[in-house]
Amino acid sequence: MDTAVADQLSPAVPKPAHVPDAAVYDFDMFRDPALLRDPHERVRHMLSEAPPVFWTPRNGGHWIVIGHEENYLASRDTTIFSSEIIPSAHAAAMFSMLPPDIGRLPLPTPINLDPPAHTIYRAPLQSAFSPRAMLARKEEVRNLANSLIDAVIDQGHCDFIPEIAEPLPVQVFLKMMGLPLERQEEFRTLVHEFLAPIANPMDIIGRMRNVADAMKSDILSRQAEPQDDLISLLWRSEIDGKPMTYELMEDFGVLLFVAGLDTVINGMGYGIRHLARNPDLQKTLRANPKLITEAAEEILRRYTFTVPSRRVAKDAVFAGLQMKEDDRLMIFLPAADLDPREFTNPELFDMNRENKVHIAFGAGPHRCLGSHLARVELQVIYEQMLARLPEFRIDEAKPATFHAGNIIAIDSLAIRWD
Ligand code: HEM
Repeated sequence: MDTAVADQLSPAVPKPAHVPDAAVYDFDMFRDPALLRDPHERVRHMLSEAPPVFWTPRNGGHWIVIGHEENYLASRDTTIFSSEIIPSAHAAAMFSMLPPDIGRLPLPTPINLDPPAHTIYRAPLQSAFSPRAMLARKEEVRNLANSLIDAVIDQGHCDFIPEIAEPLPVQVFLKMMGLPLERQEEFRTLVHEFLAPIANPMDIIGRMRNVADAMKSDILSRQAEPQDDLISLLWRSEIDGKPMTYELMEDFGVLLFVAGLDTVINGMGYGIRHLARNPDLQKTLRANPKLITEAAEEILRRYTFTVPSRRVAKDAVFAGLQMKEDDRLMIFLPAADLDPREFTNPELFDMNRENKVHIAFGAGPHRCLGSHLARVELQVIYEQMLARLPEFRIDEAKPATFHAGNIIAIDSLAIRWD
């Protein structure tokens, strides 16, 4: 590696004895320059030269799973791969040392738990996010999307990320929770704060506390006076036969904020980027809008962008490799969905491909709870952008910018139309 590139990366740590040389591949999932230039091309290149599961010396040293089959297996095996990134006993000891004025730390439950507790805490959310409940929101989402498009349509250009992709899921979140749309600027500020680089691990605690505090008065008021919204619905649910608690309502609120906003923003970003680069596809979909459902799925596969983390819960052999308790592992879904062992010509955007079963929403017990809502939001934005705008294209003067980590994210996407 040339020294100019190496200087941009996190320092490499020594390889532990249980990692064989053949399993080492040098990849900084936050700072790799090629990943930040053209994320999915870098992922394809990685698939061509790295083993399906490898260990990287960057960011403290950790495993990365890139093969499709291996991603699928790792996502499902919660006995080896735990979602309790910090074991609960350690977390309790750590939190007990925090100054009392910090307050309670809300935890995004149940994404941070393993079965059987995970199953118990996921249950109340499951019915709230059913396909039927989400489809019922489609026209509401369409109205919100249209008002954002109204604001840019006459200017002939926009930065799609801050002007449309970011406000839309924030507005959908507020509507669904039963919070007033007038609070969107406050919640967009919280999204920005949440996504800003972390200088100190304590920042995360403060950010989660701020999100929970922003919802506090509404959570409390819905307990006394239920309305037709998700907060009221969750208050009515039971956890393992016991009544809901304020603490768990906070945890659910933080989870939905963390899981449902940044994801949709980037899903929309990759989709509109692909459409802007492919005028023929725009023509096909304008002529036959029914195909948008298929196109949205193929976009999710082609540009999968989330990277869930796990902790190795016990010494175990996975994919022929010895892993040790407390090793960290990244389920690198963007690579799984571009694995040529699973998808023929994975780089091609092909709505008619035989195997359409992507894992952009994960696999196993933590599989995305919001996938039906995400699909509604993605389909609606493609439908409305195609119906309302003439052919749109990338503004070549302002190339898209990206950042990477547990989400490979698009920060800006300048597009133009005549
Ligand atoms: C394109 C958009 C989205 C993508 C690609 C996506 C992807 C994912 C993935 C990969 C997971 C699994 C995480 C893991 O294994 O640790 C997940 C979990 C989850 N997602 Fe999504 N998501 C999206 C949108 C949403 C939305 C809109 C919501 C709801 C508001 C949501 C709520 C959740 C929740 C609650 C979980 C945790 C489920 C559990 O732990 O049982 N997601 N998502």
